[in-house]
Amino acid sequence: MEDLLKQIQDYKTEIGTYNAAGEKAAEEFRIKWLGTKGLVKNLMGEMKNVPNEKKKEFGQILNEFKQFAEAKYEELKQSTVDSQQSSNIDLTLPGDAVPLGTRHPISLMTNRIISIFQRLGFAVAEGPEIEDDWHNFTALNLPEHHPARDMQDTFYVQQNPDWLLRTHTSNIQIREMEKGKLPVRIICPGRVYRNETVSARSHCFFHQVEGMYIDENVSFADLKQTLYFFAKEMYGQDVKIRFRPSYFPFTEPSAEMDISCMLCKGAGCNVCKKTGWLEILGSGMVHPNVLSNCGIDPNKYTGFAFGMGIERPALLKYGINDIRLFSENDVRFLKQFTSAV
Ligand code: PHE
Repeated sequence: MEDLLKQIQDYKTEIGTYNAAGEKAAEEFRIKWLGTKGLVKNLMGEMKNVPNEKKKEFGQILNEFKQFAEAKYEELKQSTVDSQQSSNIDLTLPGDAVPLGTRHPISLMTNRIISIFQRLGFAVAEGPEIEDDWHNFTALNLPEHHPARDMQDTFYVQQNPDWLLRTHTSNIQIREMEKGKLPVRIICPGRVYRNETVSARSHCFFHQVEGMYIDENVSFADLKQTLYFFAKEMYGQDVKIRFRPSYFPFTEPSAEMDISCMLCKGAGCNVCKKTGWLEILGSGMVHPNVLSNCGIDPNKYTGFAFGMGIERPALLKYGINDIRLFSENDVRFLKQFTSAV
């Protein structure tokens, strides 16, 4: 028994220091140690000479040794595969190109709108998508039970009836005004949610960019000039704009802005429903109640605000006919867009 143990110890040392490499060496190793006439088998044969009470102990040692030899063999085999692979590498080949991602068309549009307003001194502001009633509705001059709340079908959060998914990014404007730092000149991009049936034309979530400028002596003329500048930068210098009186609880007076249809240049086509005009945003002078709700003195300060959806202009711009494509994450769709210009 002792001789056998010593033998195994020597074998282990021999295997441990075996350092020949290559396919042939691995095969030689297999034959010498693990083959049918190999040394491991040989040792197994010694089992019959081991006294009964030692058989179990010896069997374990033997088994462990067998695994040791097998592990070494696996290592040798693997190293031959590795060395074959490395010798097949052609270092003169050009490298694999790393595929570049593309921006989402909604991001392209949003960034373009933002950059136009940034040139006018507007700063980007963001806010939460899960909002409380105050910032989404009440502070915006929509008290509880106000019929205008029905204009925007709202998703409420079950755990807390005061929480909802914001229906517009106007919540950001309230939060910025509440900070009390004037003037406020911000552009507010973000995702918004409304409980609408999903179809090719509308979705239960979409994106908006809203903006606001509050200071002393801000007038409706400033609103018009700012939005005119925006329309020209966004849709081309020859674009025409028009304002139609409208209603929003948070602005007074309120107006919707149309631009001349860029497809038919105002002549009338299917996209503009033969009117020659496309509706692109809502706007108005911030209601005095909204200012005082946010701690701003409406006798000293005035301001304008506006808001537009991103999906519709993006559909138009890229000639896409189904709004759902924007959120299906099909890479074949997404990789087609490189610029919003
Ligand atoms: N918050 C309005 C909407 O989501 C858009 C808007 C913003 C209108 C600011 C007027 C002034 O429909």
